[in-house]
Amino acid sequence: MRSERVRVSGRLPDFPWDTIVSARERAAAHPGGLVDLSVGTPVDPVDPLIRVALDSVSAVPGYPTTHGTPELRAAAVAALARRYGVAGIDPAAVLPVIGTKELIAGLPRLLGLGPSDLVVIPEVAYPTYEVGALLAGARILRADGVTRSGPESPALIYLNSPSNPTGRVLGVDHLRKVVAFARERGAIVASDECYLGLTWEGSAVSLLHPEVCDGDHTGLLAIHSLSKTSNLASYRAGFVTGDQALVAELLEVRKHSGMMVPFPIQAAMTAALSADEHESRQRERYRARREILRKALAGAGLRIDHSEAGLYLWVTRGEPCRDTLDWFAERGILVAPGDFYGPNSGEHVRLALTATDERIAAAAERLHG
Ligand SMILES: Cc1ncc(COP(=O)(O)O)c(C=O)c1O
Repeated sequence: MRSERVRVSGRLPDFPWDTIVSARERAAAHPGGLVDLSVGTPVDPVDPLIRVALDSVSAVPGYPTTHGTPELRAAAVAALARRYGVAGIDPAAVLPVIGTKELIAGLPRLLGLGPSDLVVIPEVAYPTYEVGALLAGARILRADGVTRSGPESPALIYLNSPSNPTGRVLGVDHLRKVVAFARERGAIVASDECYLGLTWEGSAVSLLHPEVCDGDHTGLLAIHSLSKTSNLASYRAGFVTGDQALVAELLEVRKHSGMMVPFPIQAAMTAALSADEHESRQRERYRARREILRKALAGAGLRIDHSEAGLYLWVTRGEPCRDTLDWFAERGILVAPGDFYGPNSGEHVRLALTATDERIAAAAERLHG
């Protein structure tokens, strides 16, 4: 007789967004309409330069390569050097991915981790780090300091600076300590650098920056998304780079699995990584929206913690986050409750800067009122 099929979804947490449906309905009933600051999804159009590049190859019928075009990999290397001062990456060590969420959800499995392995994720974290570990059957430790894992050597340590949801930035010293610890214990460090280009106060540094790793990328992976910095969330566009041997291993497995970025998207990514103006323009849009929201929140007596970078404001009224979710919903504003991001963030909510200028102004007016 066939054994009972085990549902993989049974291993995963409940989908958190389902739990704010009633808050969404309440917020949507506001006479001025819903201001949705819950999901960090871009609202500004894709730059024409990128759309032209996409269209220019839309008649090409053949399969793309999993490794991506040489032009795309060269553009990624040049962008990392130009934008973030990361030098010395071999284009062979760049691997395009179908949006970085896909990579993160699969990374522990792609790296061969299983039940005997420990994955360290930030205390307050983007939920997909946990999902990827659970899909691989690995164990999870939520910790911001590396020493928290005690005598056990983790297999994989996730970093996310600037952080989603807190906007916290990890300094060079912190990153150096993680690299030293990982090297001592044989752990891989995966740094999710999706918001590296969005800093407001001070700057953020890549794991692969020479000040952090002394130019040695062994055991290190940096994950870069084009979703936020180039408004390409709908295109599904990102890449991973760092340790050449690790990237080669990921490439090998992904080749067998057909995990290819569509060819027109590769062309769009190449264009986006080769030009910085659209990125600067987008950053300035977010900076202006952040400033308006920041002032309105402070005026309404809310406290903003961290949030020095990234696409979110991490806000508290010093009460359970579900009460704050309701407080905002009464004003027609939908936010994300902190408990989406871990058990120790129950008094915060996250506000995304990804709404139109008109909706941000409406939110500010309601907060002032
Ligand atoms: C920290 C972090 N990593 C990764 C992602 C995934 O981005 P994408 O799959 O669009 O590249 C997100 C999206 O919000 C994120 O906040």
